[in-house]
Amino acid sequence: MSWQIDRMVQLVTLVLVFLTCMLSSALGASSSTKISLVSTTIFDVMKYGARGDGKTNDSPAFMNAWKAACQAQGNKRSILVIPKGRTFLLRPISFNGPCKPSSIFVQVSGNIVAPTKKTDWLGSPIDRWLYFSLVNGLTVSGSGRIDGRGPIWWENACIGTPAPGTTCHAPVALQFKRCNGLRLNGLTHVNSPRVHITLTTCKGVIVSNLHIIAPETSPNTDGIDVSGSTNVNIRDSVIETGDDCIAISGGSSNIKISGIMCGPGHGISIGALGNSGFDVVENVDVRNCTMKKTLTGVRIKSWQGGSGYARRISFTGIKFIAVYNPIIIDQYYCPTQKNCRTSTSAVKLSDITFRGITGTSSMDNVINLSCSKTVPCTNIVVDSVYIKSAIPGRTVYGSCINAHGRASHVKPFLSCIKP
Ligand SMILES: *[C@@H]1O[C@H](CO)[C@@H](O)[C@H](O)[C@H]1NC(C)=O
Ligand SMILES: *[C@@H]1O[C@H](CO)[C@@H](O)[C@H](O)[C@H]1NC(C)=O
Repeated sequence: MSWQIDRMVQLVTLVLVFLTCMLSSALGASSSTKISLVSTTIFDVMKYGARGDGKTNDSPAFMNAWKAACQAQGNKRSILVIPKGRTFLLRPISFNGPCKPSSIFVQVSGNIVAPTKKTDWLGSPIDRWLYFSLVNGLTVSGSGRIDGRGPIWWENACIGTPAPGTTCHAPVALQFKRCNGLRLNGLTHVNSPRVHITLTTCKGVIVSNLHIIAPETSPNTDGIDVSGSTNVNIRDSVIETGDDCIAISGGSSNIKISGIMCGPGHGISIGALGNSGFDVVENVDVRNCTMKKTLTGVRIKSWQGGSGYARRISFTGIKFIAVYNPIIIDQYYCPTQKNCRTSTSAVKLSDITFRGITGTSSMDNVINLSCSKTVPCTNIVVDSVYIKSAIPGRTVYGSCINAHGRASHVKPFLSCIKP
């Protein structure tokens, strides 16, 4: 609610600034590129030389507008405007803080597109396209569209998570790092070369009302990846891509996900944990989400040989529509099935709840809880879970190994969870 009020205040401020601008130019005031009001200054990329014709490299203009917005003195808020009705071609670009204003609002009304040729990606292999780092109080909002032009990258994609530096390593479209108080709202993100949005080492983030779209067959095109971040709320968004809709990895805590329409894609997953040794994830609450025709539904996965823990994770109010593998815990994760480690150490999983889950599955094994023999899962609660086959007449089943906890009101009947 306070967020909505905040948005209204922003809108009113925008209108005021606009009127002041019109008035001052009507009165023949100097055509300076920034118009100051009490606490808000507007920086329109067009005034910094952007063409917005979809062909010219607008990165230098964006960089100049960003520097001005970020370094603005004596004002409380800068608004960087990317106007409607235009398409801006950007090469890889970094919007770095810290900034002087206490908040920066990036109003994305127009469209942003990536270069069509890999040679325009200055320096290769490159890890990301649009990058924001160390910006406190950043809001990126609007009805604009961000197109990563992924197809040129997908042809030569790595299998699974690519190792940086390999030639198949494609860039992330939009990356936020070390952000504090980020709000990301309203945009449409399409066809990222790899992951659409990553939140890395961020605090206090709200992501809402996004639409993320890439073909079901596009490789590694996760919707949103969260790592090393705390107090992240992702809600009310539609994510239809070729890989995980949302993936939470190590170092993340207090993550809330709700109101997500996911599919196609690989569902909502935690992990894979433990690949680089010690990993911790805790307090993840996923609720009121729908998965449609996803490869996996809700899943926690970890490599053998890792250490650390994932605990207090709950999935409630989830609906599955013809999902292939609805509920999974996999402590034997090894996607290529080649050179898989076998080890007695593992990331410890505990206090995991699956509650109020209904729907259909395209495969017969609808619940698969595969925990480590030496580090079994503890306090797994499966309650009020009813999953049937998407194919009329077929029976479904659940399976588990080394899973401790309890199952109640579960169909198919799950007798394999041990107290
Ligand atoms: C559940 O999510 C849907 C969107 O998927 C939303 O429309 C609805 O309001 C949400 N319900 C609750 C109780 O949050
Ligand atoms: C459950 O998952 C484990 C680990 O990935 C796998 O080895 C096993 O085949 C799966 N069980 C079923 C019945 O699909």
